[in-house]
Amino acid sequence: MRIGVLTAGGDCPGLNAVIRSVVHRAVAQYDDEVIGFEDGFRGLLEGHYVPLDLDAVGGILARGGTILGSSRLERDRLREACERATDMAEEFGIDVLIPIGGEGTLTAARMLSDAGLPVVGVPKTIDNDISSTDRTFGFDTAVGVATEAMDRLKTTAESHQRVMVVEVMGRHAGWIALESGMAAGAHGICLPERPFDPAHLVKMVEERFARGKKFAVVCVAEGAHPAEGTMDYGKGEIDLYGHERFQGIGTALAYELERRLGKEAKPVILGHVQRGGTPTAYDRVLATRFGWHAVEAAHRGDFGKMTALRGTDIQMVPLAEAVTELKTVPKDRMDEAESVF
Ligand code: F6P
Repeated sequence: MRIGVLTAGGDCPGLNAVIRSVVHRAVAQYDDEVIGFEDGFRGLLEGHYVPLDLDAVGGILARGGTILGSSRLERDRLREACERATDMAEEFGIDVLIPIGGEGTLTAARMLSDAGLPVVGVPKTIDNDISSTDRTFGFDTAVGVATEAMDRLKTTAESHQRVMVVEVMGRHAGWIALESGMAAGAHGICLPERPFDPAHLVKMVEERFARGKKFAVVCVAEGAHPAEGTMDYGKGEIDLYGHERFQGIGTALAYELERRLGKEAKPVILGHVQRGGTPTAYDRVLATRFGWHAVEAAHRGDFGKMTALRGTDIQMVPLAEAVTELKTVPKDRMDEAESVF
């Protein structure tokens, strides 16, 4: 069998672990040939690929990013890919494509699969917002980075009697904010799923100071919005890939709190730091298991599906099921974290 692999969308720690696992299983168990398309779907469309053998994937298990490069795909190029789906399989001689990506990539994978290209998807995203899988790799690493940052910010905040507003990633789903906020004991957590009122945060900070606590940490997801009429904060334009250009809620909220409280409030934007560097052990293991199961699925002819973690098992779920809706933070998870506003 000849297998094509690509990584698309925003990168995330653990991508290299999947690539390595696919190559190991495919070459060692089945004597397959594996090729890696460069820079996501762009490599597939433009015919840029590299052979992937055991040497090519040596030493990459713990490396962040992706050795294949990644990119987001504009909508018209995706249409072009679908029109050429079966020709591309023939042109590159691949029996299956394993695209590793988030919601956008898996939607593209589903379209390519419907257009006749045999596909086995592997979900990834630090946001953990893909439905049908309990977890995506990259999430654990991102939560660890954000938690460590908040632990560190607490000590300096306390020295200076400041409020720290820490903005973490999460466009539509606040999983990183929820779990890192809980792990770090943030005093306020704002999620995209629930518009917040800054007046409640002001009250929380004032009560803390009245109790003799001289600092506060607020963790806000980049996609969080204030409730209508509570604070000036605009919606951003939509970019080429259909994503809202955020206006910087962390900075806006820090300034708003400083103005209302008359105390120093500092914004800290963690941004892509959360996506860089070495994956945690958990993410390496999940990524490795996904790669192994993707190759097994390819050999069973189980196409049009993606690997998914269900409990402790890896199962194959139809791509159609996986991309219908995003997995957002449910109310009961918010209720468990006392500090969700
Ligand atoms: O989807 C993963 C993610 O990291 C989001 O949390 C974030 O909004 C987005 O990607 C950032 O994308 P880019 O790297 O294109 O700025």
